[in-house]
Amino acid sequence: MVLVSVILLTKYYYLIFFKMSVELKFEDKKFSVNIVWLRDSCRCPKCYNSSCSSRITTIDQFITNIKIQISSCKQENNSVLVEWSDGHSSTYDIKWIYDIWTSNNQSKIIPHHCFGKELGSLPPRLPIDCVNQKKGQQELMKSLLKYGVGIVTNVEPTVEATENVIRCLAIPQSTLFGTAMWTVGNKEGHVDTAYLNVPLVVHTDSTYFCESPKVQIFHMLERDSNGTGGESTYVDGFKVAEILKQENPTHFKNLTEIEIESEYIEPGAHYKCTGPVIKVNKTTGEIYQIRFSINDRSPKPPTRIQEFYESYAHFVEILKREDLYWKQLLVPGTVLFVNNWRLFHGRTKFTGRRFFCGCYVSESDFSSRARVLGLIS
Ligand SMILES: [Fe+2]
Ligand SMILES: [Zn+2]
Repeated sequence: MVLVSVILLTKYYYLIFFKMSVELKFEDKKFSVNIVWLRDSCRCPKCYNSSCSSRITTIDQFITNIKIQISSCKQENNSVLVEWSDGHSSTYDIKWIYDIWTSNNQSKIIPHHCFGKELGSLPPRLPIDCVNQKKGQQELMKSLLKYGVGIVTNVEPTVEATENVIRCLAIPQSTLFGTAMWTVGNKEGHVDTAYLNVPLVVHTDSTYFCESPKVQIFHMLERDSNGTGGESTYVDGFKVAEILKQENPTHFKNLTEIEIESEYIEPGAHYKCTGPVIKVNKTTGEIYQIRFSINDRSPKPPTRIQEFYESYAHFVEILKREDLYWKQLLVPGTVLFVNNWRLFHGRTKFTGRRFFCGCYVSESDFSSRARVLGLIS
């Protein structure tokens, strides 16, 4: 690599030793920034339209930027001032660069992987009056980010009132089951097992959608007082994955790698989606989604099939452990939000009418709202 040193005149100037990067300093912390990125990220009015938060560039300009060199770079107070070899000038806020390069402004809310009793006791119960305010919305969102569960109480047991609460957080996701809200307990015209009265093994919803909903909301509107059973069951899938990793790292790794296909069929619809059971962020190593539904797997054999079955069987075996389960009766007035990329839900068999409503929220809309509320980056 060719060394280039540009010796500048005052003590505020930094030496540039490498063509590829420049060293900067924020407070007492030194860090290195790629030079192409620096030019590519110029926020001057020629390079960035701040009124619509969009870069201004062309294909030719982008290709030119790859070859541009720094003529001078100095740091003054909180600004980085760069003169480029093509005569362009850029000014950057040093904290802005530091936060991006060190991920300093990423979410401080670390997920707490929960046993069943923790799912029932740790999330706060937030009255509806509180969730109408920004602070209450932040509390609800924080609860979802940390525990995968959010609970709102004192809600009128109607579809309309439930939708109003949900819209405090995000807009509903349109799916086959409803353009916004869906109801379960009447004759809905879908053939999913959710609409029957058999027990439901815990699962995440919509493993067969490529846009699998991030959040699912439930509100029991009516329950037959003479009915029996019908308890809702929840398991923290991140906890299951954590246990699997502890007990057998190879099984865990297999389920992050081997892709399986899920499908949903009804007259006029045939959905399929393929992916691993456990999705892991390749940069941070953190689990961000679990796709788990025994019943919605298609017959298509996965690759590395024997490894898959052994690993999946271990995952399923962990679900026999009672301490993972939070069991409760959904009741009118309490709206439950669950992270469908994390929490598994199911229910025991039941008799009598059980009528509830809910909806889905997409990952994009959920995370957008979390950003606007200042909880994630
Ligand atoms: Fe479900
Ligand atoms: Zn510029």
